[in-house]
Amino acid sequence: MRLRSTKIPKDAVHHPVFARFYARMSVAAESAAGMAGVRAELLSGLSGRVIEIGAGNGLNFAHYPPAVSEVVAIEPERTLRQLAVRSALRAGIPVDVVPGTAEALPVKSEAFDGAVASLVLCTVRNVQQSLAEIRRVLRPGGELRFFEHVRADGRAMAATQRALDGTFWPLLAGGCHTSRDALAAIEAAGFLVETYRKVNMPEGGIRLPTSSCVLGVARRSPVVDRGSQGLR
Ligand SMILES: C[S@@+](CC[C@H](N)C(=O)[O-])C[C@H]1O[C@@H](n2cnc3c(N)ncnc32)[C@H](O)[C@@H]1O
Repeated sequence: MRLRSTKIPKDAVHHPVFARFYARMSVAAESAAGMAGVRAELLSGLSGRVIEIGAGNGLNFAHYPPAVSEVVAIEPERTLRQLAVRSALRAGIPVDVVPGTAEALPVKSEAFDGAVASLVLCTVRNVQQSLAEIRRVLRPGGELRFFEHVRADGRAMAATQRALDGTFWPLLAGGCHTSRDALAAIEAAGFLVETYRKVNMPEGGIRLPTSSCVLGVARRSPVVDRGSQGLR
């Protein structure tokens, strides 16, 4: 009898060096840069079924409130996904870690009460397609919680961001772009931005090209939109 070869499929996102760096740096940033507090604020008040986009090593999982019944955590990068699976085992709520990308979420339409994007819209290959997918999988009236670093207000820093994005930064930082305007993209995708505040990270620390952040809540319109009914 011939055995079928068990080929491991190629990952959609492959950044093993960045993944190992991020796994260490992000854990340190929880206390050193105040990220734990930001994550708690980001997720506070969520309930029901939640999809997290680009969950990384799963540092949000510990901060989901008990009213969240289930988290589906999408993560395309293998090293980070394996770490996320470990974080899921320690989470206080059920977390299912699933391979996939924001541009083609492997879930049914209108299946989630909430979606979470933290430090991921800077990195996805196609921001508008990713946000259209997030909108598709949220139920009408569902909420998108976001924490994203964005284009800086100051001219000099914005110019630095553009220079970095046009040269080596995306290569070094797993595809990250420092100067994307996440807030404008969320609005352009048809979400209603309900609240947001600007945050500088690290809180009270030096200004870096990744320091200007927005933390907020946007909502999919409660009116059923016939164009987004297709099931995947
Ligand atoms: C800077 S990390 C942020 C991880 C996590 N969200 C957090 O808050 O720590 C960016 C994450 O986006 C993931 N990512 C990259 N491209 C993606 C895509 N097209 N769709 C979904 N996630 C993606 C990366 O693998 C990585 O886990």
